[in-house]
Amino acid sequence: MQTITTVAEVHHALAEARRADKRVGFVPTMGYLHDGHLALIEASRAQCAVTVVSIFVNPTQFGPNEDLSTYPRDFQRDEKLCRDAGVAIVFAPGAKEVYPAQFETFIEPGELAKPLCGAFRPGHFRGVATVVSKLFNMVQPDVAFFGQKDFQQCAVVRRMAIDLNMPIEIVTVPTVREADRLAMSSRNRYLSEEDRGRALAISRGLFAAAEEFRLGERNVDKLIAIAKRHLETVDRLQYLELVDGDTLKPAASPLRRPAALCVAAYVGSTRLIDNVILQPTP
Ligand code: PAJ
Repeated sequence: MQTITTVAEVHHALAEARRADKRVGFVPTMGYLHDGHLALIEASRAQCAVTVVSIFVNPTQFGPNEDLSTYPRDFQRDEKLCRDAGVAIVFAPGAKEVYPAQFETFIEPGELAKPLCGAFRPGHFRGVATVVSKLFNMVQPDVAFFGQKDFQQCAVVRRMAIDLNMPIEIVTVPTVREADRLAMSSRNRYLSEEDRGRALAISRGLFAAAEEFRLGERNVDKLIAIAKRHLETVDRLQYLELVDGDTLKPAASPLRRPAALCVAAYVGSTRLIDNVILQPTP
C-alpha cells in the first residue's frame, strides 16, 4: 500500500493501472475510519482491481460553529486499517493541496441540497460537492462508493455526477450499524456512555416505523408519529422527515414510491443523523 499526499503522486501511482485498463475504485472519507468506511472499501475491492481511499477533513463543508477543529483524527490507525483491508493507495492531501491560495470556484448543488441537513447546515453540500468533484478530478476513478447513512449526500453526489457528465459510476452501500443498531459514525466517539444509550432512540424510532411499514402502514403522518414516539429521549430533534427517495421532497401519502425516513438529532452536544429506506412493492 502506498500513502501519498499530492495529486502528481496519485497520477503517477495510478498510471500503470490505467495503462492496464484496470478498474479503479474510490472511497472518499474524512478519516477516523470505522466498519462503515470498511464496508465501502470492501465493496470497492469486490468490484475493482485497485482501491483508492482519500482521507481529508474538508474545511469547506463545516459551518463556522461546527466541529472542524475537533473532528476526530488518527492517521496511523486509519493507515493500518486500510492496509489490512487491501487498499492500494491512501491519498491524504494537505489543505493547501486541495485548496491552494486564490481558490474560488465552487460547485453549487440545487434543490436536493435544500431540505433535511441542507436546511440546518447552510453551505454544507456546496462544500461536499466541491471537494468530491475535486477528488474525482484528482483520482479519476471508474467507480466511487458512498454510504447510505449520508442519504442526502448520496443524492447530491449522484445528481452532480450526472449533471456535470462525470464518467464515474456512483455506488451506494447500506448503512453499517453497531450490534445495538446505532449507525456507525466517526462522531459517535464524542458520546458519553450515557449519551450513547440515549442515542439508541434514533435507530429504534426508525426501525419501529420501518416495521409498521413492513406490516402494511402507508400513511406518512402515522409512520412519522411512530418514529417520533421513540425520539422523545434525544436532547433536540432537528428534523424527522419522510421524503421521496428521488426528489427528497416530502413523500406523498399513502406511500407508493420509495421513500426515506430521515432523522437528525442532538444527543448531548453531538449531532447524529440516520435514515431507513421504505420501499413499497408494487
Ligand atoms: P465521512 O463522514 O468520513 O464518510 C465517508 C463515507 O463513509 C461516506 O460515503 C459515508 O456515507 C460513509 N459512511 C459513514 N458512516 C457509515 C456507515 N455507518 N455505514 C456505511 N457507510 C458509512 O462523508 C464524508 O466523510 C464526507 O462528506 C466526504 C464524502 C468524504 C467529502 O468530504
